[in-house]
Amino acid sequence: MLPFPLVLSFFITVFCSLLSVIAEGNVQCADGGLDWYTNVVGETPCKTYERLRQICDPQYEVGRLNRNTPPDICKRGHECCCNSISFGLSMLCLSCQQGFSHDPTGLDAVNGTYKTYLNNCSPVTNKSFTDDIQAAVCKNNIKIFDDMYDRIFWDDGSWFYEWTRERLSQDLAVNPGNTFTRCGFVSASDNSPTSPALNQTTVGSDSSTSGPSGPPGLPGSITSPSTTPSPALSSASSGSSTGLSGGAIAGIVIGSIIVLGLWAFFIYMWRKRRASQSAPEGPSVGRLFDPQQMVQNTRAGRQEWESLGAGETITRNSNRRVS
Ligand SMILES: *[C@@H]1O[C@H](CO)[C@@H](O)[C@H](O)[C@H]1NC(C)=O
Ligand SMILES: *[C@@H]1O[C@H](CO)[C@@H](O)[C@H](O)[C@H]1NC(C)=O
Ligand SMILES: *[C@@H]1O[C@H](CO)[C@@H](O)[C@H](O)[C@H]1NC(C)=O
Repeated sequence: MLPFPLVLSFFITVFCSLLSVIAEGNVQCADGGLDWYTNVVGETPCKTYERLRQICDPQYEVGRLNRNTPPDICKRGHECCCNSISFGLSMLCLSCQQGFSHDPTGLDAVNGTYKTYLNNCSPVTNKSFTDDIQAAVCKNNIKIFDDMYDRIFWDDGSWFYEWTRERLSQDLAVNPGNTFTRCGFVSASDNSPTSPALNQTTVGSDSSTSGPSGPPGLPGSITSPSTTPSPALSSASSGSSTGLSGGAIAGIVIGSIIVLGLWAFFIYMWRKRRASQSAPEGPSVGRLFDPQQMVQNTRAGRQEWESLGAGETITRNSNRRVS
């Protein structure tokens, strides 16, 4: 009996982590072509782009970007994307999602693409953010290369991956530790304090204690159903939220609730079966839900569990006396 819930919760855990992997897929790169960026910034350009846009729209998810440029389109009223930096990040993200097997030199954009990306948003800020967005970028610890502000910009609204990569790599080689100065970042120390986003609660995570995203763990005490599994499980559900999108968090929470519910159910059934096995005149399995029998079973079961807990062996005789 016991191995079955164990196996079941294993599969549910796998399912939950799959769910979070799928949700994370859009901010992960198809291959290692952008490792030069990810290794320095600590996240993919898609994640940087997503976090930037989440300043204005906490629900924003990067999704699958359009291979026909522009990869994404700014939303009216969203200052976060109404600038050339956001456009540049969306282009880097596109190459990240597509990978470099078909396009060894990344994906470029023709003249006029930036204008299409802006989608008549306002106010447009070329080569900078508005002051409040810049403040939020720093507050949220979003690392953006200095070069993404003023160097990586084409007046005709085009964009070139290979030029960008070379420019940034060169800068990293020449000015190591000095490529993120807009917020006073120094690459060498990644321990800058993190504070919550401006005017928003970071979706689903109050995250000082939560670790990196990952599959919710199985409870350590899985071999003994008499210990309560809930603390381990509920901490698993809250521990996997950092960096996950709202949908993924919801999925994990729902998954964890299902796991908890199934655990409760199986533990209940297991105790019941134990109770009926130790009381020979007890109910047949076919009458499990007879309320009167249930009360008797529960009483017998409890008695047995208490005895077990106290380290005593119980005999059938003592059990019979109870019921
Ligand atoms: C892009 O460049 C071509 C030729 O260089 C020009 O004909 C066209 O008008 C330009 N388009 C935009 C949107 O600037
Ligand atoms: C920003 O750049 C675009 C494309 O080069 C240009 O059309 C637009 O006029 C510029 N806007 C500002 C406010 O400088
Ligand atoms: C945050 O909210 C305050 C008032 O609620 C507002 O004055 C301020 O401009 C907002 N900041 C941003 C970046 O939205």
